[in-house]
Order: sequence, then structure tokens, then C-alpha cells
Amino acid sequence: MPDVVSLIRVKRDNTRPLTDAEIAWLFAAYAGQTVADEQMAALLMAIYFNGLTAGELRAWTTEMIASGETLDLSHLSRPSVDKHSTGGVGDKVSLILAPLVASCGAAVPQLSGRGLGHTGGTLDKLESIPGWRASLSNEELTRALADPGVVIAAAGAGLAPADRRLYALRDVTGTVESIPLIASSIMSKKIAEGTQALVLDVKTGSGAFMRDQARAGQLARTMVALGAEHHVRTRALVTRMDTPLGRAVGNALEVEEAVKALTGEGPDDLMEVTFALAEHMLELAGLTASPAEAIASGRAFDTWQRMIRVQGGDPDAPLPAARHVRHALLAPETGWITGLDALAVGIAAWRLGAGRARKEDDVSHTAGVRCLAKPGDHVRRGQPILELHADDESRFAPAAEALEAAGTVTIGSAPPPRTPLVVSVISAADVADEVGA
Ligand code: URA
Repeated sequence: MPDVVSLIRVKRDNTRPLTDAEIAWLFAAYAGQTVADEQMAALLMAIYFNGLTAGELRAWTTEMIASGETLDLSHLSRPSVDKHSTGGVGDKVSLILAPLVASCGAAVPQLSGRGLGHTGGTLDKLESIPGWRASLSNEELTRALADPGVVIAAAGAGLAPADRRLYALRDVTGTVESIPLIASSIMSKKIAEGTQALVLDVKTGSGAFMRDQARAGQLARTMVALGAEHHVRTRALVTRMDTPLGRAVGNALEVEEAVKALTGEGPDDLMEVTFALAEHMLELAGLTASPAEAIASGRAFDTWQRMIRVQGGDPDAPLPAARHVRHALLAPETGWITGLDALAVGIAAWRLGAGRARKEDDVSHTAGVRCLAKPGDHVRRGQPILELHADDESRFAPAAEALEAAGTVTIGSAPPPRTPLVVSVISAADVADEVGA
């Protein structure tokens, strides 16, 4: 029988790959409490430094999936396809995309976690809708996937429970930022959810979890390879996250913008990413409907309304609004905005109350930031670029402080060139040599 200290040494010294049997033993022993959190933390740190081979990663992910239940969606009459984003500032794409793709004939089983840090969570956004609830039983979930064909709900405790413990441990031991650990964490939950196809939006840039484009690409390739190994048709888009997506950042503010997008009034950058992801999702699902037509005809908006009602929400109820609104970030000179830093805006929204620092914190539904001007817009010196929303006035000063750093906004004498937001697309064929390596 393996002993955990030897396995930690093997990984620490990088002497050889761990075997499938050793990894299976490790997960069983961790679940059975014979491997302690501090031992697992030491192993995670060794993995952080030395990585996992493709074989180790395959076994690691398999054990994460096997730690809980897996849903079977094969009985659905619609092809299932899901989307996951690594998270960005103002990233409300899921709110639009899930009903949009369902209105084109797919079943979209979007099971999500809560937002942490400066990027918001989809469930937190939807909870700003009066009455809407995130928790559904498996029966309710299956019913919603048959009609209206979409569900955005909290992932139940039964899906990949090993990830819950490991993620909490990584969070407090400085081992979150490891590509194999992130890839296995995200993919184990998506594979356990039972989707037949998956499109990943891996964000890169100042407001992203993976700031560096090369590392974002590596994470994308690793996840696509894991999906293929587990027979989930998977594709990844690496997309830019240097500036907030759309103009709204914060829960109710983002829902309001998503509803506008579903009725054909979405900002260009938000729709560029949404349509790109929708087209890949529909292709993987074998569907040929047009996402633009689904919006123009009102089908996507109708699916949104039904999706909200199925989960107890009132899509016609007014969204909550903040008690206090204040202008911030005055243009330092007259000219064209060439940059508006996503991270600074994300931190400001978070400090206003839109996000949580710890899992157990509450979020404010009304707090956030509205971008009055964005890159490509012309501004006059002194013109406010942002509007801050908060219920508690004491939140304004720390939020404004996050926006003070040089470079939060940059102004030029000409509009910036328009760069496509989709940097690259990674398909299973691109990582065929990595699968099962
Ligand atoms: N999101 C996850 O679900 N897991 C990670 O490890 C990082 C982000």
C-alpha cells in the first residue's frame, strides 16, 4: 500500500510520475480522512511547482469525477451543450448565451459556482431578480432541460465533492494558480454534469484570472484535451479581458444589460463574444439555427423569461437599484479613450459590494459600476467615465481609491484600432497529440 509521505516526496523531487493506482489510493485515503489536509496541501504545493504529466492529470481528473455523482443527460431529446468562462469583469455572457443557445434547439445545463474576488458569479447576478432561486433538485433540473431547454443553477454538493475540499485547501495555501489543478477542477465539474459538448471561454488580460496570453492558451489546451479524453466534445476560445465587457459591472446592473442584449440592444463587444461562443456551441451540438435570428425574432428573450419563471423568478419585476450613485474617474484630458483597465474597475465594483472576498460573504445586488465611456469613445477633459452604485456611502472612498492608479484610463489623440476579442480557438484536433499522452 502506498504511503502519503513517499508520494509527496516523489512529487516534490519529480523523480517519476505517480501511477494511476497511487492517485486512486490518494483520493480514497483523503476522502476517508487517513490523508490529512496538511499532507494534501504539501502535495498540492509540489504539483504547483512540478506540474502533472498528461497521464497523472488524466487519473487525477478521473478521481475528481468519481468522488461524486455524475448526471446522465443522454435521455434528453435535445443535444446538450454547456459553456464555462474562467471569469472576467462585466462578463454576463452566460446570462445571454444560455437562453440564446436553448432557443436554437439545444439543452444547456449550466451548473455554476459562486463568484469569488473581482469577477462576479452568474448565480449572484441572477439572484438580483426577485424570487429567483439557484438551487434545484435533479428532477427539476431534468424537467427544465426538456422545456425551456436551459437551466442556470447551483451545482449540487454531489458533483465532484473532492474539488470542493481541494479548492478550499488551494485557496488558503497559495496553490490556486496551477494549470493542471485549475483544469482538473473546472473539467471534473463539467464532465460530472453530463453535458455532451462544452465551449470554454478562457479569458486573458488584466481583468482575467490568467493575465498572460500564453498561460491562458496552455490552460485552454489542457482543458480541451481533458474533455476529449472524457468524450465531451470540447472547444476553447481564448478571449481578451483588458477592459470590462459591455458597460455594466455588478449584479443587477449586469442583468439589466443582459436583458437589453436579449432584445437586440447589446453593446458590440458583449455581442461579439456572445455570438462567437454561440456559434461554436451550436456547431458542437450539430444545430444550424442562427443566433442573430433567435434574438431578432424574440425567441431568445422568450426563452429567458421562461427560464427565469421556472426557477421562481419574476422576469417582469423591476430590478433593485442602489440608493446612491456617484460619478468617478474624470477624463484627465480631451481625446479618445484608448484603455480602461478591467482589473481596476473590477476591484472598484467589488469594493462597492458587488463581489465577495470569502465564500460565506453576502453580495449586494445593487452595487456596481456603469461605464459611461469606454475605449473608442471621445471624451472631454473632466468628463466622468464611470458611475459608481452603492447602498452604503462609505463604500465610495475605497472604490474610488482602486481607480486612482496611473493607467486606469488612457487617452490618445486618435481612436484605438479595433482588435478582435477572440484571440484563438482551440479544438480537439489541435491537442490530439496531448490527449492520452
Ligand atoms: N475555477 C474553478 O472552478 N477551479 C479553479 O481551480 C479555478 C477556477
